[in-house]
Amino acid sequence: MSTEQGKTVYIETFGCQMNASDTEVVLARLADDGYSQVDSVDAASLVLYNTCSVRDGAEAKVRGRLDSLKPIKRERKDLRIGVMGCMAQRAKEELIQAHPHVDLVVGTDQFVHMPALLKRLEQEQQVVATDFGFFESENWSARRREGVNAWIPVMRGCNYNCTYCIVPKTRGREKSRDPNLIESEVRDAVANGHVQVTLLGQTVDAYGKTLGDGTSLAKLLYRLNEIDGLERLRFVTSHPKDITDELLIAIRDCDRVAKHLHVPAQCGSSRVLRLMGRRYTREGYLDFVERARRLCPGVEILTDIIVGFPTETDEDFAETMSLMRDVQFDGSYVFMYSPRPGTGAWNLPDDVPEDIKRVRCNEALGLQLSQQEERYGRLHGQVLSVLIEGVSKSNDQRLQGRSQGNLNVVMDRAGHDDCIGRCVPVRINGSTNLTLYGEHADQEPTLVGTGGLDFLRLDI
Ligand code: SAH
Ligand code: SF4
Ligand code: F3S
Repeated sequence: MSTEQGKTVYIETFGCQMNASDTEVVLARLADDGYSQVDSVDAASLVLYNTCSVRDGAEAKVRGRLDSLKPIKRERKDLRIGVMGCMAQRAKEELIQAHPHVDLVVGTDQFVHMPALLKRLEQEQQVVATDFGFFESENWSARRREGVNAWIPVMRGCNYNCTYCIVPKTRGREKSRDPNLIESEVRDAVANGHVQVTLLGQTVDAYGKTLGDGTSLAKLLYRLNEIDGLERLRFVTSHPKDITDELLIAIRDCDRVAKHLHVPAQCGSSRVLRLMGRRYTREGYLDFVERARRLCPGVEILTDIIVGFPTETDEDFAETMSLMRDVQFDGSYVFMYSPRPGTGAWNLPDDVPEDIKRVRCNEALGLQLSQQEERYGRLHGQVLSVLIEGVSKSNDQRLQGRSQGNLNVVMDRAGHDDCIGRCVPVRINGSTNLTLYGEHADQEPTLVGTGGLDFLRLDI
């Protein structure tokens, strides 16, 4: 796979892990076609933006990047500019109308054909390829980033229709991949030193449904749990409605599977949840939390929260805050509502003023961090299993890693470089609201998952 003179690609990736994974696949395809990767626009013959559309802010960044390429393209007519990912899928030709110096718009199912699309540019002025239609059985070789983790998509698309969300439009209908292919990709990744694998899907817990043969995420976890050398197996993101008892028991029983669930609640008010089209109530979500902690003790539960959805009142927001207190989430990502064209909520008035959205966002984040600080404090003296990822970026006397539940853990480095890429026991002896500090311990971990330590007041 030698690189051809002059074929160089600079790629910038926005958005979620699925996009990070698509970037790795497209880089592999381009490498087969003679491209080498470079780290600046100046050194590139092809510039690609792999874009996100989930909030307007994500699209605004790309618009800014494209504007700044305009004078460069004027100077270098042969520079190829491509936009792929969710914004490309959403905006299609509009992207070229707004930014005529863009050569190529490539949708979320079409990027695997990147070399052929680039070839078309030899005959055509501009190419827009945004059809859905994906070869689930296709093997995607990826050019993975160095490090312990490998992303492996197990499904794509989403069959829900949450009214705020653009993803079903940009990623299409749900489709699961063949478990045999997934297993062989996981084995390859492990053989290449990626001792952690993160399975990806928009609603990853629905994995298997579209295959119609009884395949499920639980069955896939049991199967992958047999792979020697795999230290840790994760999966994101889940929808509360698809978390079965079978799945919770699989997480509990598979020793390589992290005791970790990212299951966005989005909001604590049943009225707003109904407007969001989430298909559960506040009580339904709390039932899920109770079930998860009963069947899989110690499991960590992380959430996403949207503040300022149309019609959200102070009382609705107070319900979100009380849900956060009741559940004691192990992590929360909080977002301000951003109307997206073509979604169910697009026609609702965006009636929560920006400054109120900001206040609510800060309040929710503040609550999460203060809860986290208190929870982390209670972990002092406990021994956790930590997958050491490498030397800490901020202090080379320390190693950095992640607990089962993805908590950020830092430990003293001296004499422990051999721990990199392994799960090791770490005794926690300090913490802030974002990081746990500790030292290497010569004993078995005292906790498997760190979630729900004394938890859950179901006094509703
Ligand atoms: N597939 C995942 C999440 C997709 S988007 C899932 O179903 O859970 C990631 C997060 O962005 C969502 O969980 C939601 O909290 C947030 N989000 C999605 N659309 C948004 C919008 N229009 N405005 C603000 N936040 C949004
Ligand atoms: Fe979006 Fe809802 Fe699908 Fe998640 S489940 S990707 S929030 S539509
Ligand atoms: Fe963004 Fe698309 Fe991911 S909209 S969050 S890049 S699925």
